[in-house]
Amino acid sequence: MSGKVLVTGGTGYIGSHTVVELQKSGFETIIIDNLSNSDIRVVDLITRISGKRPAFEMADLCDIEAVKRIFDTYGDIEGVIHFAAFKAVGESVEQPFRYYQNNLTGLINLMQCMLEQSKANMVFSSSCTVYGQPDQLPVTEKATVKKAESPYGNTKQISEEIIGDTAGKSHMRAISLRYFNPIGAHESGLLGELPTGVPDNLVPYITQTAIGKRAKLTVFGNDYNTPDGTCIRDYIHVSDLAAAHVVALQRLLEGENEKKHEIFNLGTGKGYSVLEAIRAFEKASGVVFNWEFSGRRPGDVEKVWADTTLANLKLGWKAQKGLEEMMSTAWQWEKNMDAGILGNENNKPDM
Ligand code: UFG
Repeated sequence: MSGKVLVTGGTGYIGSHTVVELQKSGFETIIIDNLSNSDIRVVDLITRISGKRPAFEMADLCDIEAVKRIFDTYGDIEGVIHFAAFKAVGESVEQPFRYYQNNLTGLINLMQCMLEQSKANMVFSSSCTVYGQPDQLPVTEKATVKKAESPYGNTKQISEEIIGDTAGKSHMRAISLRYFNPIGAHESGLLGELPTGVPDNLVPYITQTAIGKRAKLTVFGNDYNTPDGTCIRDYIHVSDLAAAHVVALQRLLEGENEKKHEIFNLGTGKGYSVLEAIRAFEKASGVVFNWEFSGRRPGDVEKVWADTTLANLKLGWKAQKGLEEMMSTAWQWEKNMDAGILGNENNKPDM
């Protein structure tokens, strides 16, 4: 397909992989990012992979005049994939207003500009966090949305409602994609997650420990009601996730959507425990690293994995990559960062 697609947060982790997939499918991409949690050099790396340079606009979605200018400059935008948001669960508990202001103002400004265009097709980056601890597993899209555990999670719930209500009463068409746990890196070794400071998430913590940037991984809790006592998650390769955004967008552009706002789970449908994830990393990398158990981390759900039937049937999409490939690409990315792929500041220990 062709046409212009605006990708907010397009230099971020999932955004950058999605830009590459969009380019592979023939779309012209325009990235809007304020670089608050990403690096401008990612634009060069995307270009190295795809051979096509995405347009880049440094702007904050909270600045509506800047967003309007971008819509005016490019004109005739076929669709928008909206990633740009703050995403650290713990930080959102400490700074709730900052999260509500950034994530909701950004969305509303973006939607206002979209609604002024003749086409308003949006793919939204949502999260399985909306399910909390589901009553039934695997969790389907019909499961109750539970009271959010964090302001971050609440911004995802509220955003889905804003999008759903607005699409119902306007020409907007939207798909919200509820991600499970995105991990891994691009097969080229040129794109991956760039956590700033001490990582919150399991896989960046594992790779940083294995490379020697961290002394030891802490495994949060071994007394959960799971086979080995550690929490279970549905890890999904970031490139599989990126591919799902392209098919979701195509569905909107071709008018194949069955509702004005559709919602799909994006996972593999398989759950792995923290210990299984550690073992998969060790097998994929050949590196054994230090870890120890500690108490539970507040707010963690015990187990969650996706029912992906709806995405498989309606989007014609299925995750392809297994846990070991997720781990081997994450490891390659960590090694490339350590070797200075983004310059030297990313390979200094900051414990
Ligand atoms: N874990 C550890 N040690 C660590 C980090 C994580 O044992 O240092 C464990 C966690 O307790 C959990 C599992 O590894 O059992 C996965 O934790 P992550 O932090 O990688 O991911 P979460 O499932 O907590 O969070 C993810 C996304 C959030 C989203 C949430 C929804 O990162 O954006 O899923 O449940 F809100």
